[in-house]
Amino acid sequence: MKTLRLATHTQLALFGGPKIRRRPFPAWPVFGRSEAQRLLRTLRRGKWGKLQGPEVAEFERRFAAMHGCRHAIGVVNGTVSLRIALLAAGLEAGAEVIVPPYTFLATATAVVEANLVPVFADIELATFNLDPQAAAAAITPRTRAIVPVHFAGQPADMDGIMALARRHRLVVIEDAAHAHGARYKTRPAGSLGHLGSFSFQSSKNLTAGEGGIITTNDDQLAEACRSIHNCGRIPGGVWYEHHVMSANYRLGEFQGAVLNAQLDRLEAQTATRDRNGQYLAAQLRQIPGLHPQQRPAATTRHSHHLFLLRIDAATFGAPRAAVLQALAAEGIPVSGGYPLPLYRQPLFRNKAFGPYLPAERKKLNFARVRCPNCERICNEQGAWLEQNLFLGTRADMDDIARAFTKVYEQRHALARVRA
Ligand SMILES: Cc1ncc(COP(=O)(O)O)c(C=O)c1O
Repeated sequence: MKTLRLATHTQLALFGGPKIRRRPFPAWPVFGRSEAQRLLRTLRRGKWGKLQGPEVAEFERRFAAMHGCRHAIGVVNGTVSLRIALLAAGLEAGAEVIVPPYTFLATATAVVEANLVPVFADIELATFNLDPQAAAAAITPRTRAIVPVHFAGQPADMDGIMALARRHRLVVIEDAAHAHGARYKTRPAGSLGHLGSFSFQSSKNLTAGEGGIITTNDDQLAEACRSIHNCGRIPGGVWYEHHVMSANYRLGEFQGAVLNAQLDRLEAQTATRDRNGQYLAAQLRQIPGLHPQQRPAATTRHSHHLFLLRIDAATFGAPRAAVLQALAAEGIPVSGGYPLPLYRQPLFRNKAFGPYLPAERKKLNFARVRCPNCERICNEQGAWLEQNLFLGTRADMDDIARAFTKVYEQRHALARVRA
């Protein structure tokens, strides 16, 4: 890997110098004629619901096949998909489900909405993903499931998690909301646990604005998911015959139409993001104090919904907030990511669970939870770049690396920046 020759001994843009990046990065979403054609066809067909039209059914077939799964069930979003997966698993009310604390709130609130108790286990500092050892330490006689998140699009340590699950007879639901097209060894993310859950919300690598899907190879779990997402109806049953507590969580045909067109783009987009992500990581690793998300050998494809790194202020020589401010001024959009672990949200601190977990609530105390790696990443070190940046060229990556290098070279000037 060639070292970046830099810089520009110009002044930081933050203090009035020239910006490294003036052009915009690639926009998201990407769409064209195929989306328009499918949408128009759907409109004119007049079959706009999943139960009537062919688009969602086609998408479910293709998504299942792409994952080597027998089943895929399209639903309204990636929160409902998690909840339905948990309900389908038939866990008793109040059972415990291990989740990481460095994730969107849905990973844990779907657990509460299934009347189950989320138990937070720390992530690994290097990979940002659930640490199987921390998960093992969180197991109690009431543990029934684990929800690993393939955070940013890098698969969690599924060998470790599945071994733990086998030992304790736990259900594993992969939260693959970031991981469309990601691979763990030879298999796609979302096909490794008992159930997988994806989101198609607007920021996601495969999107229809909103939407979600559940993947599984288990016929019984699939049947339960299909029933729950369709008002409790059962295969072979009639329209006004409802067997389980549920509702209408079906994905619609317009979303199915967009998703079918987007799916045609996913393979090439994922390859581009992965290539650019690996290239940028190699560049940034050369800068003291920068630690791009560590990529285990088992990650054979990273979908880079996000590109993650840690900024170690002591070694870099400037605090994260000042570095991010300086990068933004250079034209590089980088955020600090989640500012607090999920268990520190008022929702958990106050146990504001609405009608859920009435019996367990008294005993729960999320103020006592400590996940030091997650806290360090949230409070001090984490940084994110979003997926659309990685749809560009190597020259785009060089601009990002150049901006980091410029900021590093002039880190001493950042002493005057107030956090
Ligand atoms: C890790 C993770 N899980 C679940 C979800 C929930 O997906 P949705 O927004 O489609 O409900 C998200 C979405 O943002 C997410 O990032």
